[in-house]
Amino acid sequence: MKINNILIIGPMGSGKSSIGKILAKRTSKKFLDIDFQIIKNQGMNISEIFEKYGEEYFRDLEKKELEKLDNIEDYIISTGGGIILKQENIDMMKKIGLILFLDIDINAQLERVKNKKNRPLIDNDNVESSLLALKKYRDPIYNSICDYIIDVSNKEKNVIIKEIEKIIL
Ligand code: S3P
Repeated sequence: MKINNILIIGPMGSGKSSIGKILAKRTSKKFLDIDFQIIKNQGMNISEIFEKYGEEYFRDLEKKELEKLDNIEDYIISTGGGIILKQENIDMMKKIGLILFLDIDINAQLERVKNKKNRPLIDNDNVESSLLALKKYRDPIYNSICDYIIDVSNKEKNVIIKEIEKIIL
């Protein structure tokens, strides 16, 4: 396993992208965000991709982006919350690097996603029940595939970064 790469997994609103960016700077690694790569390559935002082509199509795009990372080194990679839905993605991620799960409780998560747009899976009238349903299905997967778990609920970013650095440095 190439442990010089770190993949950040976890649900929407757990801070995968923002923590990943800070971590990359502090560890002098390169940063890559799978969702951002998809948006850039498709020339569309995520809601537009879901609307036009559906979720399965988006899931294939996630897989294709991961496939491109086969030989990379010294990267911090932020993923989308649903990247763990395909077993092939899990297998690839395990080969690419160390997997860090940013865990978050539902209240902190609700607080963090409430003003954010462009998340088609929770773009409805009952965000809480949508998040809870995703959590119930996905948390066991995040937990079982990760190398490390950091609980990010109600913590400042600098505290989270310190906790991560304790593990990886
Ligand atoms: C998704 C999470 C999103 C994005 C897409 C689907 C999911 O990424 O990939 O909207 O299935 O949980 P974030 O986790 O970065 O919000």
